[in-house]
Amino acid sequence: MGEAGGIEQQQKSSDKTMSTDPNDYTIIKEGEAEILMHAKNEVFYNKTQVNNRDLSIAVLRTFISKLKEEHEARNNKRMKTPQKVSEEAYSGNVEEAATDIPVSRSPKSNGECDAKAEPSEDDPQETVDLTEGKGQRQVKPPIVLEALAASGLRAIRYAREVEGIGQVVALDNDKASVEACKRNIKFNGSVACSKVESHLADARIFMLTHQKEFDVVDLDPYGSPSVFLDSAVQCVADGGMLMCTATDMAVLCGGNGEVCYSKYGSYPLRGKYCHEMALRILLACIESHANRYKRYIVPVLSVQIDFYVRVFVRIFTSASAMKNTPLKLSYVYQCIGCDSFHLQCLGRSVTKNNSVRYLPGFGPVVPRECSDCGKKFNMGGPIWSAPIHDQEWVASILANVKSMKDRYPAYDRISAVLTTISEELLDIPLFVSLHSLCGTLKCTSPSAVMFRSAVINAGYRISGTHVNPLGLKSDAPMDVIWDIMRCWVKNHPVKAQSPDQSGTVILAKEPTLQANFARAVASLSKAQAKKIARFLPNPEKHWGPKVRAGRQITSKHASLLGPHVINGINNHEEGDEPEAKRQKTDNHNSPSCQEV
Ligand SMILES: C[S@@+](CC[C@H](N)C(=O)[O-])C[C@H]1O[C@@H](n2cnc3c(N)ncnc32)[C@H](O)[C@@H]1O
Ligand SMILES: [Zn+2]
Repeated sequence: MGEAGGIEQQQKSSDKTMSTDPNDYTIIKEGEAEILMHAKNEVFYNKTQVNNRDLSIAVLRTFISKLKEEHEARNNKRMKTPQKVSEEAYSGNVEEAATDIPVSRSPKSNGECDAKAEPSEDDPQETVDLTEGKGQRQVKPPIVLEALAASGLRAIRYAREVEGIGQVVALDNDKASVEACKRNIKFNGSVACSKVESHLADARIFMLTHQKEFDVVDLDPYGSPSVFLDSAVQCVADGGMLMCTATDMAVLCGGNGEVCYSKYGSYPLRGKYCHEMALRILLACIESHANRYKRYIVPVLSVQIDFYVRVFVRIFTSASAMKNTPLKLSYVYQCIGCDSFHLQCLGRSVTKNNSVRYLPGFGPVVPRECSDCGKKFNMGGPIWSAPIHDQEWVASILANVKSMKDRYPAYDRISAVLTTISEELLDIPLFVSLHSLCGTLKCTSPSAVMFRSAVINAGYRISGTHVNPLGLKSDAPMDVIWDIMRCWVKNHPVKAQSPDQSGTVILAKEPTLQANFARAVASLSKAQAKKIARFLPNPEKHWGPKVRAGRQITSKHASLLGPHVINGINNHEEGDEPEAKRQKTDNHNSPSCQEV
């Protein structure tokens, strides 16, 4: 950190002297953890992030069981074939780690830990555990770095609630937060004291000096994680997990394209899909940092919920696999006059005689003017256009959540989100909004079931998306989507519009397919058919992002965070409005895109 950073930190620290009077504190309970909160908002805490913490716990539990499965599979293979550990194998807690680990992998007797605890002879860093006699490697409990820990609530929950978790290291560069974290560790008793360590450190420096040492790195910053990504991708062990939140939705959703480019290296677009695009921009950015170190990511779960995005990616090292990265990235062409968008992949591969060559993608995939309405295109990206979830993981996470319902305070919300995610089409980046299509044509809306049926009857796939109850993902090309709408309008005519309107141009063409709106079997999602909740309303008044610790809520914040502003589009259930003659509104104006 430069001089300015040092001064800022001193300032932060001297401003906040912790009270020793117990009456100044209230106890906040979440899951198994209890934290002491001071009345003056000294240390960051946001109650609504319980969804974020619950999801992370569910992913951690699944991560641990997957590691065991992977190890069993490798052990079995090893028994059968001579040893050769795959480049992609998880190495974080089975192979010998770097020797200079300044944090402990073994439990401490209390929560007080020095920032530079060296490994002792009693605490060997040898991570390969050869079970006597059997010669098999055992999985060591994964160690977690909560790089931006604030009160320590998350770290303490991980330690107390995730069976089989190893040491949890909680960092913060704010002295008051570290004091609070240490106090909270003690307050939470022996398990927290033995497993959670709190350190005052700049997360970026700590992560850079602990390369590949943590099985899990959790980044949960105020706003953008961009400044932490380069060191975070280096800190995760091979096959380990990076969990990362971004709350700067205004930036990621296109409110400030140039700021997004400077932070994430990608240009956002203001389409209805902007929340999914935000996830894909973040993933592309993490991949780009990983690539610098011959590493690449495999997303297991990517969620846009409440006012932020959160991604869970595994990180592997492989110079050869990394060559596939351009095949997983695309530019997005968004028509400025209608809903049509098209993806252009950055690269392609050609396989000849068992060898693969990597080449630039063919382009452009679009003419200069939109073939549907004649207007120009904006170009955004590059975005991550490969799958953003691993459906096997999603199924395991959801099964875990359902089997431990009582242990997730945000059960209703996270199970609804995971249920919707479990039905998303994996190979379809972005989506159209039925209401927006109708807004372009100024027509009434078919029900979602009718529209889905028409797409399925035309021979294509369609699914919902967890980021928007009105969004529909489909492999149907845009001309097919418009043909379906043209057929709809033939039976539900619209008033004449001026000839230069995009809707008029689209409707002037005759459809080349005859849409069939008869109800198709798969037109309802499985969850809908079983009446399982897929979207839930926001939980309470004044729900949303919180200001930085220590800052007072002003009228500006109140106007930004007010429930009417925040309870935006995400609360509509699919197809709940029969008429869709609404004005076209950009999601980036929705409050969940606002950063505080
Ligand atoms: C949003 S809060 C974390 C909330 C916490 N993860 C939770 O679940 O309650 C972000 C924290 O990051 C800390 N922080 C910001 N920059 C940092 C840096 N460079 N190194 C370490 N901590 C930092 C802040 O002091 C703040 O406490
Ligand atoms: Zn167009």
